[in-house]
Amino acid sequence: MNDNEPNSSATINRRDFLKNTTGLALASVGSVMFSGAAQAQESSQSWHHLQNTKNDRELWKKVRHEFILDKKSVYMNIGTTGSMPKGVLHEYNINNKIVAASPWDMQEKFANWPYLSEMVNTIAPGFGADNHEIVLSRNTTDGMCTIINGLHFQEGDVILTTHHEHVAANSPLNVVTKRYGVEVVYLEIPVYTGNEPISEQDFVDVFAEAVADYGDRIRLITFSHITYKTGTALPAKRICQEVAIPNKIPTLIDGAHTIGMFNLDFHDIGCDFYAGSGHKWQCGAGATGILYVRDNAKRLHEYWPDRENPLWFINSSLAQVPDLGTQLQLQYIGNDNYPAKQALADACQMWDLLGRDIIETRVLALSRLCKELLEESFPSAHIYSPNIPELASGLTTFNPFFDPQDLDLLTIFRDRLREEYGYIIRTTDFKVKVTDLVDTHALRISTHLFHNEQDIIGLVAAMQHLHQVML
Ligand SMILES: Cc1ncc(COP(=O)(O)O)c(C=O)c1O
Repeated sequence: MNDNEPNSSATINRRDFLKNTTGLALASVGSVMFSGAAQAQESSQSWHHLQNTKNDRELWKKVRHEFILDKKSVYMNIGTTGSMPKGVLHEYNINNKIVAASPWDMQEKFANWPYLSEMVNTIAPGFGADNHEIVLSRNTTDGMCTIINGLHFQEGDVILTTHHEHVAANSPLNVVTKRYGVEVVYLEIPVYTGNEPISEQDFVDVFAEAVADYGDRIRLITFSHITYKTGTALPAKRICQEVAIPNKIPTLIDGAHTIGMFNLDFHDIGCDFYAGSGHKWQCGAGATGILYVRDNAKRLHEYWPDRENPLWFINSSLAQVPDLGTQLQLQYIGNDNYPAKQALADACQMWDLLGRDIIETRVLALSRLCKELLEESFPSAHIYSPNIPELASGLTTFNPFFDPQDLDLLTIFRDRLREEYGYIIRTTDFKVKVTDLVDTHALRISTHLFHNEQDIIGLVAAMQHLHQVML
């Protein structure tokens, strides 16, 4: 990585781009591997110094220094998993030692049983939620499975979802199909292919039309806030407010990619359940996630008056103790990894201090730059992430080759980009139309708060070079 940011606003003009790409910008700028542990020693809660930063340019430079990512490469696959900032990592290591040294009381580091309350109280306000609405889960998959497998479905019920969901949703949906005879409807959502514009309204219409078709058989609407396949952001608030709530249908949103990327307000979105990852864009420890359950799931009783117990706590040790409240019942699944959960709370504190609105603006600005440079550099490429503010995210997907169904070629490109140029990205596959017989394949780039404009310029230049070599 390189700290010479050419421009602080994340918008860079074409001349700057060409100037910076006259020599191929390779990722590797240092030969010595960074020793994270040693650096982290000096940096307990190191994010607090970010408060006194003079301007954007200086702020993002300092933020970049908070990460110990290997400098021999540029890591652009946050969509799979993120990287803990060094201050968070430092505290995590200390807390692991405390637990190992004093397993009985953990030196009272995490207050009283169930040891997670203070962490929850730290995290909830940053997401527009009340404390009792936040459960610290293991990851998005855990949250999705807890809710889908916990809902009291019956034969003939309908669940609406989309044709671009992750297995974290598709797998439990498959279980309830087989177990109860639920009908899962995989709605075809619009996929941007560069040919025709798409808008928020198109997505709202897809759900509204299905609600008109399936009526009161629909027991759940579940969809990704940002699809992992193309990086398209769905209008979650509009789907909840304009389609689900007026029809009394509960909503479960897969927010694997929004937690830590977008400035979320769960109350404002109006969803019933929201499952996200702590380890991806939020850069918490592995196996951490956030599950939002609106108001003790009370609305379920209003929406489903015919089901006495609409939500079963399928993986709780406290399912038979209703007086403890939904949050604790869902939270308590036996002994937990308290240092990991504390690391998530610490990462959330850092994000709150920086400002989640500022982080979202920065991530979207870097992603816009990435999309613009790709459009300029690969005029005939297939770009699948719409570059319009309402539908954009920090994920960018595209395929530079003529045949977007050639997975072998794209895999070679992805691997050579990593091995020869040092840029780490991934591939995704999807059907553009639900009836497609073959998959379309794309490269997926994640741009996050620890990147700068030079990383993106370097990536696009490297891709351009490799593409020419491979033609
Ligand atoms: C849309 C989506 N949902 C769920 C997941 C699973 O996330 P986790 O590993 O946090 O369970 C992913 C991970 O890549 C994803 O992209």
